[in-house]
Amino acid sequence: MSVRLRSLRYEDLGAVLDLERSHFPDDAWSPGMFAEELAMQGRGRHYVAAGEGNELVGYAGMMLPGGRQAEVLTLAVNQAHWGRGIGSALLTNLLEEAARHDCAEVFLEVRADNPRAQDLYQRFGFSNVGIRRGYYQPSGMDAIVMRCGLNEQPSRTGGTAPAGGAR
Ligand SMILES: CC(C)(COP(=O)(O)OP(=O)(O)OC[C@H]1O[C@@H](n2cnc3c(N)ncnc32)[C@H](O)[C@@H]1OP(=O)(O)O)[C@@H](O)C(=O)NCCC(=O)NCCS
Repeated sequence: MSVRLRSLRYEDLGAVLDLERSHFPDDAWSPGMFAEELAMQGRGRHYVAAGEGNELVGYAGMMLPGGRQAEVLTLAVNQAHWGRGIGSALLTNLLEEAARHDCAEVFLEVRADNPRAQDLYQRFGFSNVGIRRGYYQPSGMDAIVMRCGLNEQPSRTGGTAPAGGAR
């Protein structure tokens, strides 16, 4: 079965919250936060789902405030499906959406203790531009701030994208 990208919908909320709680035990978004975010879909927000059959295997979201900057808000893939290129496909979708909105740069925050996500972002041309000490609570973990200039992209070498951040 192949993975397809589509818009994230309210019906996905249960599956998203399950993934959210397993991947971000420190700072999982609440159902209310997600519902508010989804209400802004297409109006300053872009949320995309990766689905395989009826299963939601990943999701990602981005804020597009209307200027030349966008921010990756979240990105997660069900651990059973890691390493299949799904995270790369979701991130590609976000960066393409930012380019469609004429953004010049995309920012994100990633936990300092999350090298797997940092590697993924670096492969897509993100580089470290700052650190927020003790940003994640209650753990006190630092956030690394990363930036990607959309007109400065190296050729992407991420995993193979199926048809179709952040913390
Ligand atoms: C970070 C995350 C989204 C990555 O998702 P993913 O679907 O596994 O990502 P991909 O398969 O596209 O890419 C990562 C894999 O591709 C490999 N890969 C792909 N292209 C590669 C390249 N050009 N060079 C080296 N490795 C490459 C990576 O090594 C890794 O493979 P591995 O499983 O063998 O280590 C996922 O691990 C996740 O959900 N983590 C928990 C939540 C999280 O941390 N989110 C980010 C918040 S900022």
